[in-house]
Amino acid sequence: MSKLNKIICQRIGWDAHLKPFLYKKLPSNLGWSATLGSLCVILFGVMAVTGMFLAMYYSPSPDKAYASIDYIMNEVPLGALLRGLHHWGAGAMVLAVFLHLFSVFFSGSFKAPRELTWIFGVCLLLITLGLGFTGYLLPWDQKAFWATVVSANIPKDLPVIGQFITNLLLSGGGISGFTITRFYAIHMLVLPSLMLMLIAGHIYLVRLHGVCEHESSHPACPAGKTTRIYRFFPEHMARSSVVFLVVLGIIFLLSLFGEIPREDIARTIDENYLPRPEWYYMWLFQLLTYFSGSTEVIGSLVIPTFGVLLLFALPFIEKSKFIGSVNRPLAVAAGVTVVVGIVYLSVTGFAGTLSYGNTFMIPSRTLSKTEKNGLRIYAQQECAYCHNIMGKGGRRIGPDLSNIKAKGRTREYLASFIKDPQSQSRFSVMPKYALQEDELYNLSEFILALDFTTNEPRTIKNEPRTIKKEDIIPKTITP
Ligand code: HEC
Repeated sequence: MSKLNKIICQRIGWDAHLKPFLYKKLPSNLGWSATLGSLCVILFGVMAVTGMFLAMYYSPSPDKAYASIDYIMNEVPLGALLRGLHHWGAGAMVLAVFLHLFSVFFSGSFKAPRELTWIFGVCLLLITLGLGFTGYLLPWDQKAFWATVVSANIPKDLPVIGQFITNLLLSGGGISGFTITRFYAIHMLVLPSLMLMLIAGHIYLVRLHGVCEHESSHPACPAGKTTRIYRFFPEHMARSSVVFLVVLGIIFLLSLFGEIPREDIARTIDENYLPRPEWYYMWLFQLLTYFSGSTEVIGSLVIPTFGVLLLFALPFIEKSKFIGSVNRPLAVAAGVTVVVGIVYLSVTGFAGTLSYGNTFMIPSRTLSKTEKNGLRIYAQQECAYCHNIMGKGGRRIGPDLSNIKAKGRTREYLASFIKDPQSQSRFSVMPKYALQEDELYNLSEFILALDFTTNEPRTIKNEPRTIKKEDIIPKTITP
């Protein structure tokens, strides 16, 4: 060893620390699924690097954000590739984190003494989802805007602190320039630094306790005499690199040939606009549609919160010494149910966003003439574009319109709200409806009739051809 070499080795603690770290022996039969953890870390690296370059051109303000993305796409050398890698990389990372989580769950490697490793992992999952959420608003297109409207209004349902949380998140009552700067700061400073620290802790703990038991019937590292040497470096790193290169290849191809959905600039109200969350949030979005009125919080808050708490508590709930999936039928059944549930919700979510306004939920009693007219206007104006009734028939961008009598809404309030939502609620994002006074009267009566605490609901089909213009504007009613 040359003298210089020796000095460097001493200075960086090669023999004492780095060498044992790099050349650490891992279980010789470690499966390929063990590369998922490294994949998550490397993808985070890709996101960090592409993000840094994007930050050089991106401008976080409502009047410049959209144009700055155009600039990145069209003017910056390799800008489109850069943005593509960041966009598709985000999806890949969310997927990798979920796969990593499920693989650890099914192999049972989260059990003692690895509780803390698992808890760090759950935090990393939440940070990844937070990065996805905050990054989503930044392109400032319609999709970004509406998805943020929907999700930021979710905590509002919480008693007492709900409004406060929404205001904190949006930096005020509505989505504004401050919302972008806040999301931007969280997206590129707060969450990435948290993530780095937690990754360091996670890796330290993995090192401390090992990936899984060495000598056991663990499926991730089954027993058996092998003479093969499997070290972190170079064997495990080489294998992880193969996986990473395949993934990188895919996101490269997607960046080059796939088109990133790009919609109109945020807030241009367009009747044909189809709001949809990013695919990895679709299942949560879909969950919302199963609940309405006072049960809405179950879908928006209770189930997700319960799910996260359950994840954190998992190592303390399932304490049996068994590992692998063969000896844990109950845990595996629960895990499979969750996976199937997520896939099911995602698929129905994608199918469901395609249609709206084909059916309406109305009270089973006979509607009065006024209410019937209101229903026609409701169908004509395509309110179902943003509103559900009893969780059905439309989309959940605005609140469910069933049982809102219970919220103390009066006919006068509804009429003036629909005519000019911003006059009633400053930050409302609902479009204005320039309807006649009698139309507003009918529509409000119809909405108040959607009281399913005293009436059974009934589903009717939309038959647009039976609606005639003269039916819609009755002559006799005076508000
Ligand atoms: C582009 C989406 C969109 C469309 C289309 C839309 N709304 Fe809304 N609506 C919302 C949103 C979002 C809210 C609640 C938050 C807000 O005001 O921004 C809302 C709120 C409401 C409320 C208030 C509910 C309450 O509890 O106070 C009523 C009533 C309402 N909408 C009725 C209608 C009617 C009737 C139509 C059709 C004429 C309609 N909306 C069309 C998005 C929409």
